[in-house]
Amino acid sequence: MEEIECEIKEVIKKSEIPEDYPHAKNVKEWVLRLKSDADTALQIAALAHDIERAISNRKILKNNFKDYDSFKKAHSINSAKITLEILNKFPLSKEVKDKVRYLIENHELGSENDQELSVLKDADSLSFFEVNLPLYFQRHNIDDTLFRMQWGYRRISERAKEFLKQFKYKNETLNNLLKEFIYNNK
Ligand SMILES: [Fe+2]
Repeated sequence: MEEIECEIKEVIKKSEIPEDYPHAKNVKEWVLRLKSDADTALQIAALAHDIERAISNRKILKNNFKDYDSFKKAHSINSAKITLEILNKFPLSKEVKDKVRYLIENHELGSENDQELSVLKDADSLSFFEVNLPLYFQRHNIDDTLFRMQWGYRRISERAKEFLKQFKYKNETLNNLLKEFIYNNK
């Protein structure tokens, strides 16, 4: 497990996007906070779910897709593929590998009825708000930021929304934006 995690982290560390590596580690932390008995597959999926973004010559580009959902689906499938290439170097059971693939392929738009997938989606979205949003906000305008917040918010559970309410940013504009956003989405 440790060796696998090291290899995944080495790939993500090379990402050109500064928040990719802290986000990967933070999603795993959120997964364990939300489900302390998360199994190996769920922990690997948490760490590697966005791995394709870190590899510039294999990365899926948003502009090639007609809408954000199709872009996110292609991103998930590509991340699962790259993760499996890493996992195949290790003596893991087919069951664990299939589960990692399933979790990563569905982490953006997956079913509401799968508890582990919901944990992964909640962890990913909470981490987006916690780690990525301040940096995302520096690179994008308010409309794009609000669209991305909306996209993350609509996929989280009521439980995760309670955590989100407690988030505080150093940037006051962003704090007010989140407060207003939560109020408007009640
Ligand atoms: Fe993510």
